[in-house]
Amino acid sequence: KRVAVLISGRGSNMAALIYAAQAPDCPYEVALVASDKPDAEGLALARAEGVATANLPPARGNRAGFEIALADAIDAAGIDYIACAGYMRILGDDFVKRYAGRIINIHPSLLPAHKGLDTHAAVLAAGEKVTGATVHHVVAELDSGPILGQVRVAVQPGDTVETLAERVRIAEHQLFPRVLAELVAAEVSPEALLTKVRALAL
Ligand code: GRF
Repeated sequence: KRVAVLISGRGSNMAALIYAAQAPDCPYEVALVASDKPDAEGLALARAEGVATANLPPARGNRAGFEIALADAIDAAGIDYIACAGYMRILGDDFVKRYAGRIINIHPSLLPAHKGLDTHAAVLAAGEKVTGATVHHVVAELDSGPILGQVRVAVQPGDTVETLAERVRIAEHQLFPRVLAELVAAEVSPEALLTKVRALAL
């Protein structure tokens, strides 16, 4: 199956997805990388690994136009699944509905705890002893889709946002390729997908 990865930044999770796909039994390949930021560091890494990158109009101030171009690039590349890996823009309803059941996201907390931005600061402020990462289906409401997999990460005394973020990232790099591979391998039938899409659209 062909996967598109959406990024906004350095793309370490994207890299984890690309490298995991080298395993002979991996059921997906990363066929496209797209970013809302033309200068995202991850784009250079994708190109260096021989992965196609989408050439898109500026996203700023024109979300609808940007998402139409993004969907066109995704469809032209024959993409089956979309993985948001540090994609920092909220996807519009039309885009989410169009790919419902086939678009997933990674979030650096044990959802439903600590949705939204500045997750690690919120985890530290709340005095959590354990945090982690979650891969979930993307639905219109932010960080709220059905959960596909989680990994737990202990918070250590003296952790800062930076040290915690770095450790959670290491855990994310294990979790994301595994969950994506499981989802793809599950080979959801068109009928089951339709049921799922209806459920997600509620
Ligand atoms: C990850 O921690 C992800 O969970 C969050 O943003 C970060 C992206 O990091 N949404 P990277 O670009 O994959 O290195």
